[in-house]
Amino acid sequence: MSDGEDHQGTRRDFLFYATAGAGAVATGAAGWALVNQMNPSADVLALSSIRVDVSAVEQGTQLTVKWLGKPVFIRRRMPAEIEAARAVPLSDLIDQSAENANKPDEPATDENRAMDEAGEWLVMIGVCTHLGCVPIGNGAGDFGGWFCPCHGSHYDTAGRIRKGPAPQNLHIPVVAFDGDTTIVLG
Ligand code: FES
Repeated sequence: MSDGEDHQGTRRDFLFYATAGAGAVATGAAGWALVNQMNPSADVLALSSIRVDVSAVEQGTQLTVKWLGKPVFIRRRMPAEIEAARAVPLSDLIDQSAENANKPDEPATDENRAMDEAGEWLVMIGVCTHLGCVPIGNGAGDFGGWFCPCHGSHYDTAGRIRKGPAPQNLHIPVVAFDGDTTIVLG
């Protein structure tokens, strides 16, 4: 490995650990504003692809990392969350597009939003599609998913907008597994 590659690897590791720490306290809009003041430098933000070790993420919990200056929610869902999301008919949805960068033209079924076939992993940009606040997670809101307190948008367990002013489902970035415990964003 050259010196340049070694340096890049170090910066990536830094970004992961820095953002994993931020996730622990970024539970709402106010929390994110506070953390945002500790942004990494511009060259770190410019990294278009990061790797996240998800081996410590337990079912029913969410890790929040920062990628390209935005929070990204990595949720490992419980069976009940998956079941609830898969029971919703498309006709009940406000935004019927999957809003998934990996499947741009697909409908908003839970299967088209989850990363894996079983639906355990859901990765989304943690930015409300109304005016950009960071929704609260861990079963928040009327649909047991995420809730944006800024103007009252409720997202379901698949991150789909169900009530409130937000026009779109939470967006899903380009994301893939590399092995069983590493997620690559970008
Ligand atoms: S920014 Fe989320 S509801 Fe307005």
